[in-house]
Amino acid sequence: MKALILSGGTGTRLRPLTYTNAKQLIPVANKPILYYIIEKISKVGIEDVGIIVGDTHQEIKIAVGNGNRWGIRTTFIHQPFPLGLAHAVKTASSFIGDSDFIMILGDNLFQMELDEIINNFYLNNSNASLLLHRVDNPSEFGVAVVENGRIVKLVEKPEDFISDLIVTGVYVFDKSIFNAISHINPSPRGELEITDAIQKLLEMGGKVSYTLTSGWWKDTGKICDVLEANRLILDSPDGIAGSSCVLGTLFNNRIHMGQNVTVENSVIQGPAVIGDDAVITGSCIGPYTSVGKRVEIINSHIENSIVLDNTKVENIGKKISGSLIGKNVTIKNSKSGQDSLSFLLGDDSKIAM
Ligand code: DAU
Repeated sequence: MKALILSGGTGTRLRPLTYTNAKQLIPVANKPILYYIIEKISKVGIEDVGIIVGDTHQEIKIAVGNGNRWGIRTTFIHQPFPLGLAHAVKTASSFIGDSDFIMILGDNLFQMELDEIINNFYLNNSNASLLLHRVDNPSEFGVAVVENGRIVKLVEKPEDFISDLIVTGVYVFDKSIFNAISHINPSPRGELEITDAIQKLLEMGGKVSYTLTSGWWKDTGKICDVLEANRLILDSPDGIAGSSCVLGTLFNNRIHMGQNVTVENSVIQGPAVIGDDAVITGSCIGPYTSVGKRVEIINSHIENSIVLDNTKVENIGKKISGSLIGKNVTIKNSKSGQDSLSFLLGDDSKIAM
C-alpha cells in the first residue's frame, strides 16, 4: 500500500498566516500538522508516500525532505492549480500506479491510528473505505448517508440535512477510484470533488465501507479549529513529551520546555509547550499555550493561544487569549503614556480590542 497526502490548496480561511506559510505546516503544540500525519503513516509501515504540493511546494519540500527521519520515501507531486481533491488524485496517478493507497488531507488531525481503517478496507473487500465522524455542523463537509451499516449516498457540503456523519479527510482506495474520477464533472465550487467520485463509484457498483472515528478529529481549516486542535493535543497523554522545572518559577505539570529556555519571575501553567531559546520574563503563560522558538514574552499574560517563532510580546496589560500569532510579529505597549495606538499589520490581520 502507498500513501498520498494532499498539501496543495490555498488556505484562504487561515489568512494572513497562509500568505507566507503552507497551512499544513502551521505548528500545533509546536509540531507542524503535516508531521502528525506522516508519523501515523510511518507507524503502519507504509514506506512510499506521495505528497501533493501547490504554490507552497518549496516550503513543504524543505520541511519534509526525503522522509528518511520517519523511515519513508517521499515523492512530491506538483498540482499546478487546486482544482479539487479528485483532481489531486488524478494528478498522482503515475505515482500510485495499480497500488491500493491511503489518502489523507494535509490539514486533518485526529487521535486514532490508521490500522483499523486499513484493516476494514481489506476485511470488507472494498474498493474504497472512509473514516466517518459525527458532527453538529455537517453542512460544512462531505456527508455520508448510512443505512443498515452500508454507505448508500455521499453529498459534498449539502444545504439540507441528510446525515450527521461526515467524511473526514482519511480514505483508502483501490485503483477503481481513477475510473470513477474520469466520470465526474466539476462541482458548483468549480472543483473535482472526491465525494462525487466516491458517489460515482457506488453507482458503478463499487463497494464502499467505513470506519467510525474513535477519539477526536479536526479539520484545521479555520483558526478556531487550529486552537482547538492545540488544546486537544496538549491535553492528550502523549501530547507533551517530557517536562522540566526551572528554578525560581512556579510550574505545574505537563509543560514541555525546549532547549535553552529562559524563564524569570513567571508562572507557566500546563499544559503548555515552550520552544527552544524562548525568553519569558514577568509573564503568565498557559494553560493550553504553545510558544515557538526564540519567542520573547515580557510582562504579559497569554493563555489558550499559539505564538509562532521569533515573535515578541511585551507589556500587554490585558490577557491575550484565543490567539494565533504569526512569526516575527511584535506586539508591544511602549508604556510611554501615549494615548494613541500604532500598528503595522499585513492584509487580513484581525485585532480584537
Ligand atoms: O476535512 C474534511 C473535508 O475535506 C471533507 O469532509 C470534504 O468532503 C472534503 O471535500 C474536504 O473539504 P474542504 O473544503 O475542507 O477541503 P480543502 O479545500 O480545505 O482541502 C483539504 C486539503 O486538501 C488541504 O490540505 C488542501 C488540499 N488540497 C485541496 C484542493 C482543493 C489539495 O492538495 N488540492 C486541491 O485541489
